[in-house]
Amino acid sequence: MLIAVTRPVSPTLAQCELTHLAREPIDIARATAQHAAYEERLGELGAGIVRAPAAPDLPDAVFVEDTALVLAEVAVITRPGSPRRRLETAAVATLLSAYRPLACLTPPATLDGGDVLQIERTLFVGRSSRTNEAGVEQLRRLLAPFDYRVIPVEFTGCLHLKSAVTRIADELLLANPDWVSSSPFRPLEAIPVDAREPYGANALRIAGTVVYPAQFPRTRDRMVERGLGVVSLDCSELAKAEGAVTCCSLVFQDGESAYR
Ligand code: GLY
Repeated sequence: MLIAVTRPVSPTLAQCELTHLAREPIDIARATAQHAAYEERLGELGAGIVRAPAAPDLPDAVFVEDTALVLAEVAVITRPGSPRRRLETAAVATLLSAYRPLACLTPPATLDGGDVLQIERTLFVGRSSRTNEAGVEQLRRLLAPFDYRVIPVEFTGCLHLKSAVTRIADELLLANPDWVSSSPFRPLEAIPVDAREPYGANALRIAGTVVYPAQFPRTRDRMVERGLGVVSLDCSELAKAEGAVTCCSLVFQDGESAYR
């Protein structure tokens, strides 16, 4: 069974962390409706939605991806780079303990799940304002017994590695070439986002379909031209909080890993 862990939009979302975006008013009712539509799409694609408890006082709680990495053998509970976001991990750890043994990052490590792109048994980890060297090294040590490779990746221009590159098919990535080089990921091919849609590289591949923000129609066309099935959804309010489609879920098989 495919599981998608989500967490409700907090009424405090407008007080979220922001790194590369200017603060804008956020319509919470609209963000909540967009999030409900997101859960519905994931459900239609075969995922069982498992909600972590609401955390109204934690503005970024909806971006549950940053709190954990769920691999086939273990769930790694992260230590998010934003101190305030560290309060998000306890409830997610409790929930994930029903599915996987847990391993936890500890100080001085910091790491956000949005910085980790899994390609089979390789984890590409973005060096970012949220993920430090100790985070990369601890992850490498924790996962060595399970035979994962951990490869640090440089990028610029955005918050998380997966804002710059995501996997959209077995052999295909979607990337913003201004923010990340595709060379670390070879031999996978990287489709570039349309230059007018720099935030368009974050796509969620689930059950062979790409869940993708409606805000980026030109980049969407590039994926469709390559024969990919794309489901568009409006996540414009969540985007104002510097979040996108991968950020809002932790997707995994109850029993084995789902690759993104
Ligand atoms: N607002 C998303 C983050 O900064 O983590």
